[in-house]
Amino acid sequence: MKVLVIGSGGREHAIVDALSRSAKVEKIYAAPGNAGMAAQAECVNIGVTDVEALRDFALENKIELTVVGPEAALAVGVVDVFKAAHLRIFGPTKAAARIESSKEFAKELMAKYNIPTSGFKAFTSYEEARDFVAGRPFPAVLKYDGLAAGKGVVIAQDMEEADAALKDMLLDDKFGEGKVVVEDFLTGPEFSFMCFVSGHKVWPMELSQDHKRAFDGDKGPNTGGMGAYSPLPFITDEDKEYALSHVLQPVADAMVEEGCPFEGVLYGGLMKTPDGVKVIEFNARFGDPETEVVLPRLKSDIVDIFCAVADGGDTQLEWHDFATLGIVLASKGYPDAYEKGHEIKGLDAVESHLYHMGTCEKEGRILTAGGRVLFVVGRGATLKEAREMALRDVEKIECDNLFHRSDIGYQAFK
Ligand code: AMP
Ligand code: GLY
Repeated sequence: MKVLVIGSGGREHAIVDALSRSAKVEKIYAAPGNAGMAAQAECVNIGVTDVEALRDFALENKIELTVVGPEAALAVGVVDVFKAAHLRIFGPTKAAARIESSKEFAKELMAKYNIPTSGFKAFTSYEEARDFVAGRPFPAVLKYDGLAAGKGVVIAQDMEEADAALKDMLLDDKFGEGKVVVEDFLTGPEFSFMCFVSGHKVWPMELSQDHKRAFDGDKGPNTGGMGAYSPLPFITDEDKEYALSHVLQPVADAMVEEGCPFEGVLYGGLMKTPDGVKVIEFNARFGDPETEVVLPRLKSDIVDIFCAVADGGDTQLEWHDFATLGIVLASKGYPDAYEKGHEIKGLDAVESHLYHMGTCEKEGRILTAGGRVLFVVGRGATLKEAREMALRDVEKIECDNLFHRSDIGYQAFK
């Protein structure tokens, strides 16, 4: 089978890696791909939102399966365009991807179908939002929901911070037209529960945990994720069963009921609160960096799973017992401004899985080319062994412009 993977990060590198373990795969293309996957996939220079060019490439090259990595491609309807051309593609339609792209859609769906999440209210008026927040306890959770998606979540500790954030989000023109969702503040360990979903069918993956803050001790700004690991010792089988039967399965059923059945990976960003498991957010795709610690543990042939989801068939998932723990090497300055083009050496000595998140190759040299640059995933019989392997390998990588967290997995080692 010829397969196309859309995306260029560590997540897509891990998908390419999993595909290359399948005997059914003859050739892998990645658009646009990156320097790390070039050994396993032919990189094609088409951007992830250039959906017509992607479709034409798939038609011309007789691609039998396309797998979508990033949300940006889903949000512009890559799945709809491929399906209209009768191409097999793994991922949700634009309508189904609203579970991620619109916080209000997700929140209203959860309210309608009794999915456990924090209480919320949506606002378009700055004055109304401010008065509402002023009458409630702090911290206040403020989430911008509009075209400039991704800008944000603010956890405001007092009225001054909340007021500044609300002004930014609702009065400042550069955010564009949008809403703000104000939520109750929840506490407890967070975890990522990704499931393969095809209409009513839900196949749960192993659990993982991301580390969103830039620095040790969960300090510093939010990032795309600085490390992850799997499995999670502090989430019990009962917690997972509860999350499946009270969150992921009912959401899959609700999407069918609402006329936009979900196909692809439904990602529950969940929190184990003192009142039980609750939803923080949904994503309509594989998480990054969670995918890079979960897919290496997958024993089953991933092509069978992708095809079962896309064709509405059946499959089952088997997992390895070993643990994985990954550490991100990011450019100094990330998630704010950072330099590119610093040479990286020592990669050949790394024994862990090494996923490229933002690199490029120039005349045989590997250079930094993004905020998150490399992801080093150790494995072992225990999380402790996996961590030791990852930390050992991180030390082998030479580059003068990278930093990493040294406490990935700390919640598992308490
Ligand atoms: P989100 O983009 O919705 O995943 O939010 C980013 C981060 O903000 C989450 O990973 C949580 O750490 C935090 N967060 C979001 N919503 C809440 C909430 N209702 N209560 C507490 N923390 C939250
Ligand atoms: N790691 C969080 C995400 O993929 O959104």
